[in-house]
Amino acid sequence: MLKLGVLVSGGGTNLQAIIDAIEAGDLNAKITVVLSDNPEAYGLKRASAHGIPTEVVTRDGYPTKKTYDTRAVELLRSHGVEYVVLAGFMRIISKVFLAAFPMRIINIHPSLLPSFPGLDVQQAAIEHGVRFSGCTVHFVDEGIDSGPIIIQAVVPVLDGDTEDLLSARILKEEHRIYPQAIQFISEGRVRVHGRRVHIKGPGASESDHIVNPPITLTEG
Ligand code: GRF
Repeated sequence: MLKLGVLVSGGGTNLQAIIDAIEAGDLNAKITVVLSDNPEAYGLKRASAHGIPTEVVTRDGYPTKKTYDTRAVELLRSHGVEYVVLAGFMRIISKVFLAAFPMRIINIHPSLLPSFPGLDVQQAAIEHGVRFSGCTVHFVDEGIDSGPIIIQAVVPVLDGDTEDLLSARILKEEHRIYPQAIQFISEGRVRVHGRRVHIKGPGASESDHIVNPPITLTEG
């Protein structure tokens, strides 16, 4: 069974979605540790409530990225972690981390990458006027939100949307696609060829399209 280390800095609703999917029998994986850079992260409480071991590594103790990541990797290894799942972890992963878990670190981001990498992306999507946004699970590489894409979900941006409304709509989809991405990996269905990620099994069909606003012209 795939042994996961989940890294959180805050609320941990994605962590909760992964825990729930495991407990429901939908996701064949085990979280062996939840690690945080923030001792106050609510995600740590979520882990403890489900009997999952936790570790805290604060920035103070490890001022450089290299020393921080070396310690984090050491702890993850001590818990037998095979795969690293970033779930709202507010630190940029260094080469030390990438070398320790090559192509075994995944992240979730609340936009349709490669649009809107970085921070405050829901507001940026509204301000840009895009008709769709969504979320992306991707492998982590040396860039910011730039690694090969595993799965994406699309949501419409609606008239009158605020950052909170759009974030909530996206987050709901995050909670669906993150457990699914991990289950694809757990089933050994994921292969990476350069930038493209191939997932064995049924893919999308040409009819899986959506338009916003809807087309009202009579077609045909
Ligand atoms: C999510 O929007 C995720 O996409 C981003 O950080 C947020 C974490 O939320 N990377 P939570 O801590 O899982 O509730």
